Amino acid sequence: ARVQIDLAREKAISPDLMGVFFEDLNHAGDGGLYAELVQNRSFEFSATEQSDWNNLTFWTLAPRGAAKGNVVVEQAWPVHENNPHYAVLETLVAAPEGVALANSGFQGVFVQAGEQYEVSLFGRSLYVGERWKNPAQGALPLSVRLESADGTLLAQSRFEISPGEWQRYSAKLQPERTDRAARVVLVAPEQGALALDEVSLFPVKTFRGRSNGMRADLAQAIADLKPRFIRFPGGCLVHGNGIGNMYRWKDTIGPVEQRRQQANLWGYHQTVGVGFYEYFQFAEDVGAKPVPVVPAGVCCQNSDRQGGTGQRGLPLESMDDYVQEVLDLIEYANGPVTSKWGARRAAAGHPEPFNLEYLGVGNEDRITFLFKKRFEMIYAAVKAKHPEITVIGTVGPFAEGDDFEQGWQIADQLRLPMVDEHYYVSPDWFWQNLSRYDRYDRAKSHVYLGEYAAHEKDRRSTLRAALAEAAHLTSLERNADIVRMASYAPLLGREDLLDWTPNLIYFNGSDGVFPTLSYEVQKLFGTNGGDRYVHSTVTGLAADQRVALSTVRDSASGDLILKIVNAEEQPVALTFDLQGGKQPRSTAQVTVLKGTADETNDYRNGKVLKPVTTALRVADKSFPYTAPSNSLTIIRLAR
Ligand code: AHR
Repeated sequence: ARVQIDLAREKAISPDLMGVFFEDLNHAGDGGLYAELVQNRSFEFSATEQSDWNNLTFWTLAPRGAAKGNVVVEQAWPVHENNPHYAVLETLVAAPEGVALANSGFQGVFVQAGEQYEVSLFGRSLYVGERWKNPAQGALPLSVRLESADGTLLAQSRFEISPGEWQRYSAKLQPERTDRAARVVLVAPEQGALALDEVSLFPVKTFRGRSNGMRADLAQAIADLKPRFIRFPGGCLVHGNGIGNMYRWKDTIGPVEQRRQQANLWGYHQTVGVGFYEYFQFAEDVGAKPVPVVPAGVCCQNSDRQGGTGQRGLPLESMDDYVQEVLDLIEYANGPVTSKWGARRAAAGHPEPFNLEYLGVGNEDRITFLFKKRFEMIYAAVKAKHPEITVIGTVGPFAEGDDFEQGWQIADQLRLPMVDEHYYVSPDWFWQNLSRYDRYDRAKSHVYLGEYAAHEKDRRSTLRAALAEAAHLTSLERNADIVRMASYAPLLGREDLLDWTPNLIYFNGSDGVFPTLSYEVQKLFGTNGGDRYVHSTVTGLAADQRVALSTVRDSASGDLILKIVNAEEQPVALTFDLQGGKQPRSTAQVTVLKGTADETNDYRNGKVLKPVTTALRVADKSFPYTAPSNSLTIIRLAR
């Protein structure tokens, strides 16, 4: 086949095309990217999340030696009203071994020999001595130990906990051994009672050294994708499980012990330790634009799955306040430090604005009257006060029959700048729909393809699925005048706590990070993007041949970047003809990801496909290249 690339025919395309979608499902956040190692650190877990959970889940009381004691959960004098529960650890019979309250983390606490960890907690001594015999006010000792499951000590520190107001105590611990299933153990040896809350253990080395930061290896895997944007906090998590469970950004900022936690609709607990400040900061740290998504004032697909309120949308009389909450978010991100919410950002450590450009409103909501009414109120207010912000609407859930029909109707009516499409479909669907966006009306709303993935029937992350996504990405590049952004979904899946498959990156609770073949495709496109699409014509391919191509130019480097996807079982011989423009340098860089269609990255058995880069001789403006079977090739021509 022949590919004629017409260097004189270019069009501008979105430089923001390749980004990531972050949602805390599969423990992507708590127990994942968020580096906190203690689970249920503030004793707020409840049966709303899992029927057998309570405030002490993941904590175990174990009096040691001759010591005797107990633990109860109280609410009388909390650290903060948003964090109402705390533990009272009482030592009834003193002994040097003490009464131990142990946290098992997220399926074990992973600590590495020689690394530093910051342990911290809020505490106050309630009384010293025996409860019934006129106990005294005074300080009580508390040891914090990192222990192996068999009780072997790995590191420890000791605090003297004072009576009176809550105080924060912290220390650095350096374990002597690596342990993948250690525990954080609080030991109270002396008679008396201690109130304890917000018990935390963080590696000192987080991504970019941020306090309350991200797990470095996982964050790096995301950064390596070179995402142009990060969408957060979801997904369905945005609108939650009933209107009382919506993600309200103001609950997620400020000191972590003062944030309002809630159930995560994926069946666990949201500490909101990663809140909107951390999301903005993370986006900045990886060089991505932040794309926050706020609920449109309705709950998940307008149904009240939580059943409590019976209301599927915020009452209209509360919408003014809610609209203001959305406007305040823009001020929080971009406002001057002299503004109310800009000052809150500055107080958190970021006086400079976060340069918010995009704001998502709603996620996959059904386009009902209930939704429209609320969406319109939010959109009108943002448009009036912040015309500089691109509002991204939603076109609802994908049903192959109606294909976002109602969603596009409202987008057209309101002349929305951009809409969010989502689809999880078979690899075949991607191949059959490569011309989907060629047909889109350029006068209408731009598209953010906010969630997509090729789903095999068994949901494995095969090369076949990855190549179908790659083919689709060539069509997005061709149409990136209208498809401005795209993000594979979901991003992260903790392999022992999965709610959903496939995910882009799997990981474990220690140091395992397992990128899929779809990840390799995203990375190849993310690191080989462009801002100009170069027109090409392909001849000599059969209509049903699974070969897809695109050519882009990166103005910054001047490089011409060719992408070739071949999902056939045979190699495909191609001749590229560069028409117009200058002769490229004689050596190009060629990067190939190839294998067999059914293959997955199998880390357990060390069978992992990675792209391989070699040099390619380009003697002339016309040069041959044979695309291997089941491959993605990137040819980078420097000019
Ligand atoms: O990505 C997983 C889920 O799929 C998202 O939460 C939701 O938006 C979609 O249905």
